[in-house]
Amino acid sequence: MENKDQKNIAPTLIFIFGGSGDLNHRKLTPALFNLFADGFLDANFKIFGIGRTDYSDQDFRSHLLEGIKSFSRRPYEKDGPWDSFQEHLFYLQMDAGTGAKKDFSVIEKKIKETEKEWGMKPNILFYLSVKPQLFPVIAKGIATIQDTHHCSKCRIVIEKPFGHDLESAVELNQLLKELFDEEQIYRIDHFLGKETVQNILAFRFANALFEPIWNNKYIDHVQITAAETVGVEERGEYYETSGALRDMIQNHILQVLCMVAMEAPVSFDANEIRNKKVDVLKAIRIYNKEEIREYAVRGQYNAGWMMGKQVKAYREETNVSPNSNTETFAAVKFMIDNWRWNNVPFYVRSGKFMHEKLTTIIIQFKETPKYSFPSEAAETWRANRLIITIQPENDIRLMFQAKRPGQTMSLNPVEMVFNYNDTFKEPQPEAYETLLLDAICGNSTQFMRNDQVEAAWKVVMPILESWQNRISVDFPNYSPGSWGPEESDAMIAKDGRSWINTSNQRSSKGS
Ligand code: BG6
Repeated sequence: MENKDQKNIAPTLIFIFGGSGDLNHRKLTPALFNLFADGFLDANFKIFGIGRTDYSDQDFRSHLLEGIKSFSRRPYEKDGPWDSFQEHLFYLQMDAGTGAKKDFSVIEKKIKETEKEWGMKPNILFYLSVKPQLFPVIAKGIATIQDTHHCSKCRIVIEKPFGHDLESAVELNQLLKELFDEEQIYRIDHFLGKETVQNILAFRFANALFEPIWNNKYIDHVQITAAETVGVEERGEYYETSGALRDMIQNHILQVLCMVAMEAPVSFDANEIRNKKVDVLKAIRIYNKEEIREYAVRGQYNAGWMMGKQVKAYREETNVSPNSNTETFAAVKFMIDNWRWNNVPFYVRSGKFMHEKLTTIIIQFKETPKYSFPSEAAETWRANRLIITIQPENDIRLMFQAKRPGQTMSLNPVEMVFNYNDTFKEPQPEAYETLLLDAICGNSTQFMRNDQVEAAWKVVMPILESWQNRISVDFPNYSPGSWGPEESDAMIAKDGRSWINTSNQRSSKGS
């Protein structure tokens, strides 16, 4: 494994399947461009976009430049780094969906030519940014290329969704295992590349303050919210096969939950961290049918208004069935049956067209005895709360009680805030920058191992099956711009708690 602190990592060849697609345009090439501009890519690197679209290298570069102009963290500048970066971009027109050796020999030829040109064997990254149906056939095609087997310098990065359910994930894992070593396989979950998500480990394990109280003695419950203000946009066809539980909870949210709930790793070794995360997933309670009705809620957005614009109901979106049973919102109460988390609910929710864009983790601490204070003093008392906001803000807020200035003992909740952007002036890398650099350097810590993906599927499968077999009679059941269906509030209210939304998270500031 190379150390990414040392800039200019080893010569690298990157082949992006789905090169003419949206993800490459919006995320992958802008990320690679920023890595280049930050000096991480060696002078010897080449990026080949692979697709069926008929592009010349020049057309491809122009197409990607549009992506840089719209989506790059570092703005495009005339006579800036783009000019030299683009010389490393190439396009290969081919139908990778055949998986045939004769088609993949084009790639093999490029590898051989480059080895000759550079006089050495480079790192090779195959990035699968294609429809999941194509993963197996492309993986087989890659395996026809000489030297891709058991070669630690040759890695294959697979986008989500990894499988449609447990069975298909197991099947895909088995196929990949026959073709490559597990160490060569990088299953990406872009949430794990977000700075604030990575900071959870530092926050928990590099400070003496929090870990001793990070358990069921002090924590009442945890809430994880990933709310979006967009609908399904142009992705109706994909979303119909997915839904909020598969699209966000099975992967992103469960991964964040693992970071919050895992035991301390003894080292930062990739397998050690992943072992600790798998332990959490395996300890999550698997619900029976009755429990699913009680602890899992689904929703689908109706037509309405979103930020002053009229929006369609999900069932009216392009490529969506008018009777669709697909959920665009899901909320689940998870229980982790281990010593640390016994009886501490983890409430998670995610939805499209929600009130605001917000990804947040809330650690709600238990009430403390208030008897020593006069009852008037404690009127606005609120139990301690830690709020980790992943986006749009990047901050951590600790809420505690303070005495209000004056001659009487009156208490008020206040906040102590750590804001990333105010504290660290250097720009934050995008999640895809971090993860691509890790993959280039051979660091798989923030990527999912085969058993991790399968354990996450095991957690959600009973809910998915129950929802699939039980047509939702009340869809659509929430308005755009709301916090989801009423059932979601009712689910948490049964436990005497409520969802903590931004408006009441931040309102306490100095009030
Ligand atoms: C993707 C989902 O994995 O994550 C999308 O497929 C979702 O539906 C996106 O919009 C959210 O990512 P982010 O980084 O914008 O929160």
